[in-house]
Amino acid sequence: MCGIVGYIGKKKALPILINSLKTLEYRGYDSSGIAYMINNEIKIVKDVGKINVLENKINLEVNTYMGIGHTRWATHGGVTINNSHPHRVGNITLVHNGIIENYLELKNKLIDLDYKFIGETDSEVLCALIDYYYNKTENIIHTIEKVIKEIKGSYATAIIVDDDYDNIYVIRKDSPLIIGIGNDENFIASDVPAILGYTNKYILLNDYDIAKISNKEITVYNNGSIVKKDINEFEYENDVVSKQGYNHYMLKEIHEVSSLVRNNLVDNLRNIPDIKKYKNIYIVACGSAYHAGLIGKNMLEELINKPVYVEIASEFRYKKLFLDKEDLVIIISQSGETADTLASLRVAKEYGTTTLGIVNVFGSSIAREASIVVYTNALIEIAVATTKAFVMQLYTLGLIAIKNSNIRYSDVISNYRLLANQVDSILENNIYKEVAKLIYKEKDIFFLGRGIDYYIAMEGNLKLKEIAYIHSESYPAGELKHGTIALIEKDTPVISVITNNIIKDKILSNIKEVISRGAKSIIVATDDIKIDKSYYDILIQVPTNIDVLKPILAIIPLQLLAYEVALLNNCDIDKPRNLAKSVTVE
Ligand code: G6P
Repeated sequence: MCGIVGYIGKKKALPILINSLKTLEYRGYDSSGIAYMINNEIKIVKDVGKINVLENKINLEVNTYMGIGHTRWATHGGVTINNSHPHRVGNITLVHNGIIENYLELKNKLIDLDYKFIGETDSEVLCALIDYYYNKTENIIHTIEKVIKEIKGSYATAIIVDDDYDNIYVIRKDSPLIIGIGNDENFIASDVPAILGYTNKYILLNDYDIAKISNKEITVYNNGSIVKKDINEFEYENDVVSKQGYNHYMLKEIHEVSSLVRNNLVDNLRNIPDIKKYKNIYIVACGSAYHAGLIGKNMLEELINKPVYVEIASEFRYKKLFLDKEDLVIIISQSGETADTLASLRVAKEYGTTTLGIVNVFGSSIAREASIVVYTNALIEIAVATTKAFVMQLYTLGLIAIKNSNIRYSDVISNYRLLANQVDSILENNIYKEVAKLIYKEKDIFFLGRGIDYYIAMEGNLKLKEIAYIHSESYPAGELKHGTIALIEKDTPVISVITNNIIKDKILSNIKEVISRGAKSIIVATDDIKIDKSYYDILIQVPTNIDVLKPILAIIPLQLLAYEVALLNNCDIDKPRNLAKSVTVE
């Protein structure tokens, strides 16, 4: 988490740094700061709160042409000015994204060497350590090489060295970092949106790369030698990072789904690998991507007739594993940078296991390190709560299931062609506002489903929690009566998902059980399921389609419902409290 930016060139740096930081706010928004050079001195401005607080504190017109910036998601140390970045110790000023795991040990060593610390962060310790070696070697590249050997953990760091104002230095390990290339100007950023408005050319750094960046030149060192880097070009239009008239990115991104599924029809299919040949198939992911994995498990098991094991990445990476060379580990990640997911991929590779990355962000660490990568092509997603990227994960998993089954794509192409219009019809429905009014003041809400519908319910539940701050739980409908049904009172909202005709009577009986205890029943169901009025207060019907496409049709109403509830509760929809989109720490 945290976002870092940098600029060196001929333009005024502060408007660029502030704009770039705003596009990275999804990575953290507890505090922010910038450091820039003016009159041969480094000036630092920082404050707690979002970027607009920082923006109000600075004069954007200052004649400075180089600087670095940071937006923070606090890990070590509270949300205070002293803990916010940039940090400055001695001759060194830096911004850091990641965690220096051995910072306490290093801090004690530096305190013995007379260094004083004003905050509690690991990043300030990193700054002091660089200063310490720089004072000894007077060569920043040698200094960084020494520091890299001494620190443990993850870092994407931009460094300014006093009196060396023609350069910014960057290092990275396990935290994302790109360098944007312009004409007589260069940019540093944690992610592509930060530089999209300025250039479409960029290079990706590998772990342990050290880059020296001036306005004209970028030199990358690794292990003592200069390394050559490929220049990539973005394929995106700049307006993917604007709200295009919507009040929130989240709403805009949900509305993008129809064009995404329309345009991805043939493209995605070309790159789908054969996965039947593997002995065991595992899916590993975090958050919504984990829910996509569960839905994918169901699709794969149904269509390729093999068991699929789904694991949460933060558990998988530390548990006893039974992997071997004949297995496949599918890694799902929007950002391609989630620390636990990336670590799981690396663990799987240690067993010689093939890894398949289902990733959204081009060139991200997971995309680069997986044995095979399939891109979800959801384009840039800005809202912290994932919606369109989640849908495209389901879409991709569905294609993988179809391609590896006995179904020929030509037999279902008409169903795929139907999907975009079906999504449009869901988006046009006004019912979500009505349901939101019914539930937005509630303290507890339950989501029910069976089989694949339970997994869809889990994701609907997560959306409501993360953006509307309402406590909710998802349950396999048949399990509720083993304890949790004690929590159902008069008017407790219970939202059920039903897309599976075979098991519909079973979940309907479970719905009756909660209605009998006073629950308000809201059902999201595909329109092939016939449901008597006695089972619901509100029925949200969505068009039906083949099984692998139904989860897409059922989740969009739940995403929109969470949005409308959050709106009524005046929540910060695109940047929910305490969260960050890209979780690059354990
Ligand atoms: C964070 C985000 C979630 C996301 C999860 C996994 O928690 O807030 O929306 O599902 O990370 O992220 P990934 O980029 O690996 O899909």
